[in-house]
Amino acid sequence: MTGDKRTVFSAVQPSGNLTIGNYLGAIKNFSRFGEEYKTFFCVADLHAITVRQIPAELRKRTYETLALYIACGLSPEKNTIFVQSHVPEHTELAWLLNCYTMFGELSRMTQFKDKSAKHAQNINAGLFTYPALMAADILLYGTDIVPVGLDQKQHLELTRDIAIRFNQTYSDTFTVPEGYISTDTMKIMSLAEPTSKMSKSDENQNAVVYILDTKDDIIRKFKRAVTDSDSVVRYGEDKPGISNLMTIYRAFSGKTLEEIEREFSGRGYGDFKLAVGEAVADGLAPVRDEFARLIADKRYLEDVMKSGAEEAHYYARRMISKVKKKIGFVI
Ligand code: TYM
Repeated sequence: MTGDKRTVFSAVQPSGNLTIGNYLGAIKNFSRFGEEYKTFFCVADLHAITVRQIPAELRKRTYETLALYIACGLSPEKNTIFVQSHVPEHTELAWLLNCYTMFGELSRMTQFKDKSAKHAQNINAGLFTYPALMAADILLYGTDIVPVGLDQKQHLELTRDIAIRFNQTYSDTFTVPEGYISTDTMKIMSLAEPTSKMSKSDENQNAVVYILDTKDDIIRKFKRAVTDSDSVVRYGEDKPGISNLMTIYRAFSGKTLEEIEREFSGRGYGDFKLAVGEAVADGLAPVRDEFARLIADKRYLEDVMKSGAEEAHYYARRMISKVKKKIGFVI
């Protein structure tokens, strides 16, 4: 809680161009929390360096992620929007929480296992302790609700365990947060391999639709999406490609799965894929336009970052002092 308001926190890594998976699974939901909540949305640049980043790219994507937050409906007046590395308490609390997080717990994280396999030359300690930094992000603000996609559920459960462990060791300090996982869109799949998650770090550009792709690119990518040899638009486990496209179409059109099945009954996949591509491109057009306006105004984005960091810092400082006292530091 922040004052008498329930608190919402979430973050996105500026580690690649953001995808419609990031949009539907997370960012679109951020603006659902109105004025009855205190909301913090951060650009997780500290998390991004667990994988090597090109400095100029990281800097550019940090601005872009912040601009996208606003283009997707967040308002800096109503939400605290900031960059993680601008609030040093994130790293400070991460160290403290490292000492309440078990080696065995971190070893079980599937994201760590996946990323270690993918970056075998760079299995650094940060990649391993990544979830303790994520727990610090969340716990610093007394967060009640964390809107995320399904792939972050395990990290969130670990955050809860760390909070409970700390509270039991000392006394009630951290709020134990809940996930807000939107079941309809919690895992958008790759267009090339519909049994794996759509990921911003995928090397195959045709597998991923970026929020800022042009209309032509979006339509082309959906045309090429992998489906199956059947020609029936139907939702089912045996049809991962079509089911994924239906999920995306449902999210952008507001239609139900039954309505979609009816709309395309007796028509081929070609018509269906075109309709999905158009719905996505048209749905994202206002975001793209607003993004173009914002990204041209660096001064404005810097003002947002600065005041967001000041606001976040105020709350983070209070929590850090409380935590240090409980642990027994002389402060
Ligand atoms: P990141 O940057 O990988 O992804 C940002 C958000 O997008 C969601 N997401 C998806 N949802 C549905 N389908 C997909 N294909 C898909 N791909 C990504 C993610 O679940 C996430 O919500 N560790 C986090 C960033 C983070 C964070 C935090 C999140 C750092 N600190 C504190 C919440 C709270 C991450 O890497 O997200």
